[in-house]
Amino acid sequence: MQIDILQKDLTRAPAELLVLLVSLGGSKLTGDAALVDAALDGALSRSMLEDGFEAKAGHHLVLPTMGKLKARKIAVVGLGERKRSTPDQMRRIGGCLVKIAQQAKVESLACRLPSDLSPRESKTFAQALAEGLFLSVYRFHTYHGTQRKKDTSHRELKSVVLCEPRAAVAKQLKDSVSMARIMGEATNYARDLVNLAPSDMTPSRMAEEARKLASSSVKIATLDVAKMEALGMRAALAVARGSRHEAVGIHLSYEPRGAKKRVAVVGKAVTFDSGGLSLKPADKMMTMKLDMAGAAAVLGLFKALSEMKIPVEVHGIFLAVENMPGGDAYRPGDVVTAMDGTTIEVLNTDAEGRVTLADALTYAKTFEPDMLIDLATLTGACIVALGEDVAGIMSNDHRLTRRLLSASEEAGEPLWELPMYEPYAELVRSKIADLKNIGGGAGGGAITAAFFLKPFVGSTPWAHLDIAGPSYTERETRPDQPYGGSGYGVRLLLRFLQRL
Ligand code: BES
Ligand code: MN
Ligand code: ZN
Repeated sequence: MQIDILQKDLTRAPAELLVLLVSLGGSKLTGDAALVDAALDGALSRSMLEDGFEAKAGHHLVLPTMGKLKARKIAVVGLGERKRSTPDQMRRIGGCLVKIAQQAKVESLACRLPSDLSPRESKTFAQALAEGLFLSVYRFHTYHGTQRKKDTSHRELKSVVLCEPRAAVAKQLKDSVSMARIMGEATNYARDLVNLAPSDMTPSRMAEEARKLASSSVKIATLDVAKMEALGMRAALAVARGSRHEAVGIHLSYEPRGAKKRVAVVGKAVTFDSGGLSLKPADKMMTMKLDMAGAAAVLGLFKALSEMKIPVEVHGIFLAVENMPGGDAYRPGDVVTAMDGTTIEVLNTDAEGRVTLADALTYAKTFEPDMLIDLATLTGACIVALGEDVAGIMSNDHRLTRRLLSASEEAGEPLWELPMYEPYAELVRSKIADLKNIGGGAGGGAITAAFFLKPFVGSTPWAHLDIAGPSYTERETRPDQPYGGSGYGVRLLLRFLQRL
């Protein structure tokens, strides 16, 4: 999809559909809307009255122009209350525009941000709107075969023109749109990785994807099983043992000149989570290709880092494994020794994410990062606590938490802090080893999982993001988030790094 900035009035923009964004409150049409209404001999205001149109966010009305305007159709789209406009609302509006364009069967549309915005607001809102557009046109077509009916009336939105008559502002909006494109495409890439079938997205395929990201500014090193063994990653390797697919470790690095901070980002990379011998029931297994969404976010991040010229050193690390119940699978009751020497009593092979992360975090620490962030589809308990839209953050560092929370706000990727309530640390202590990999059914499963991870990061400022809920959607609750993998975390991390 092409998004262009045009230094012209909206009514003169070349597009099939003219979009008029209107806020709640004003009873009379003004600006572009008034011009369009006049050109249509008052048909717009009449229809709005007849339909009882309110400018609630996302509400819309589409009319044909009957040849009275260059555009084939017009749409009035509500922005909700002017005072309460937020970038995230704008992102959702982007999603609405994609749906409206589809219903109206047009391939191009033109719109203009509210004219009373300051240049600064225009810039943020344009970026949010463009992000919403890029995120919403995403579709996953890889497996659509010949059985799918050809819908000849189907149109895809191919071109959006954003009109901005002020020359200086128009120039800035170009940057906003290119930022949005980079972030949107990186997110959509992460979505693709999650959406691929688990037999296709194997650990070796993950390594292949990482290799494709290597460039003059992104370096990659992979660890095969022999290297992982030599490093003592016996926890992660134990998880992989039940699968025919070998484990593989991936380390991406981006070291721009003059970087003052070094950040390590670790992703959970279980390419399929059957639960292992503690097998999942069928209905819980259906979406378990999503269990590498943390690593997908790391790959998405690396796709965007150099394009955005982020001035921070970043290490992306994940240990890709598949959790299967094969003949050599690790067993409940096994004790495995992690890379840092910690012994882990495995009581449930379905609590495999934390077992792999133990080694991934230890490995990440060898690069002596200033801060360490992990993203993991770690617990169903986090979904119980926060629902499907909101990820949980648990951390040993308040400053880092605050920064990530504000990045989440900017990105429109909801995140909420869960407490590292110290007495729960005991719940993952084992009677026969250092740690056990389940909390023992006392509730607070997202938190006990975080307490399991905590010893492996030592004193490094660390934040754990449990993205089990928002990494995947079957319900399509947001207009800017189509069915399947969400790419959650990519934009949040990029904004976090941008502000560091
Ligand atoms: N990958 C799952 C967590 C998950 C569940 C992610 C639902 C997304 C949606 C994880 O490996 C897991 O199975 N966790 C167990 C932990 C339990 C055995 C302590 C869980 O949440 O049930
Ligand atoms: Mn599991
Ligand atoms: Zn899992």
